[in-house]
Amino acid sequence: MRRPVRIAVTGAAGSISHSLLFKIATGEMVGHDQPVILQLVEMPEAMEPLRGIAMELEDCAFPLLHSISLHDNIEEGVVGAHYVMLIGAKPRGPGMERSELLTANAPIFAKQGKAINEHANRDVKVLVVGNPANTNALIASRNAPDLSPAQFTALTRLDHNRTRGILANRTGANPKAIRQVIVWGNHSSTQFPDLRHATIYGEPAFRQIDQKWYREQFIEKIQKRGSAIIDARGHSSAASAAQAIINHMYDWINGTPENDWVSMGIVSDGSYGIEKGIFYSFPVRCDYGRYQIVQGLEISEFAQQKMTETEQELIDEMRTVGDLLPAETEESHRNLSVCLRSGITLYDDGISLPKQYLQTDRVR
Ligand SMILES: NC(=O)c1ccc[n+]([C@@H]2O[C@H](COP(=O)([O-])OP(=O)(O)OC[C@H]3O[C@@H](n4cnc5c(N)ncnc54)[C@H](O)[C@@H]3O)[C@@H](O)[C@H]2O)c1
Repeated sequence: MRRPVRIAVTGAAGSISHSLLFKIATGEMVGHDQPVILQLVEMPEAMEPLRGIAMELEDCAFPLLHSISLHDNIEEGVVGAHYVMLIGAKPRGPGMERSELLTANAPIFAKQGKAINEHANRDVKVLVVGNPANTNALIASRNAPDLSPAQFTALTRLDHNRTRGILANRTGANPKAIRQVIVWGNHSSTQFPDLRHATIYGEPAFRQIDQKWYREQFIEKIQKRGSAIIDARGHSSAASAAQAIINHMYDWINGTPENDWVSMGIVSDGSYGIEKGIFYSFPVRCDYGRYQIVQGLEISEFAQQKMTETEQELIDEMRTVGDLLPAETEESHRNLSVCLRSGITLYDDGISLPKQYLQTDRVR
């Protein structure tokens, strides 16, 4: 029998979680034979609605749902967690600038990074969803000195899925037939959805779509899809974000399909000339819980310009939150060792010295 894994979710009474928790409990995220313990974290004032959600989960009688605990503080909420989804964040108020949102949320993610460092399982995998997701992931990771930066990721899978979905709609292909799309950079309106390497039914997508449509309409449509959804339904994407979280975690844990890759916001090791140390969305392949950036892709002048634009935004965001990035973790984030770069997580089995790297492919 498998032992249950602990999954901590913040913002557990919010809109995204309302779709996500039920999917996790059916086994969609970690596997259909893996029992789960849900550790749900909310603001003290949202504990009563959270209790209602826990009752609904109980009423579904999910066979894989081992138990649920409710927490009004992050320190207790992440104890022993194998997976942490940081979804709760301050929402962007009317007329609020992106930089204001950044400074409002930064201290929350610094605190959460410290709590994960102190209390979570040593091989925890963390996904940051609350916006601005990339820089919140950077803050959390920089405040977790005993964990590897490769254990922290930011959600850009929703943008990746949007790219496939909208391209499928345009070409009449099934989304399953669309492979190797990339979303580079920030989860913001500067992100660059890149179709240069994409294929549809195995043939280059560029031979099947109009370049003018791609450059003048498609890119902007993906970049602004989040705002279009807010305008239409008065709330940001929730069910599609939950689906993207499931896809991101499932692939990270179980691996990406052959001949394909996914987009994940991860710490940059300088690949494709991107500033080291920022959390940037790259094309990655995952296998057995590790991920690696897809190397050697040709970058056109057009793509380079778009990639630099979104990189610059992330560098500016990093500067804005500079006082929350402890100096002690700068080195580990700017100069990733092979272990860290290949997504190997810190592993403490209680037998070896604590905080060693698991090196299954380099047995000595
Ligand atoms: N990266 C992405 O692709 C993506 C996509 C959609 C939404 N988002 C972001 O995800 C976040 C959540 O979206 P939502 O629609 O669920 O929002 P929501 O407002 O419906 O719910 C957020 C919940 O988080 C809780 N919360 C706030 N601060 C918290 C904290 N410090 N600890 C624990 N809980 C806290 C709130 O009480 C609320 O219940 C937002 O920041 C949104 O912008 C990201």
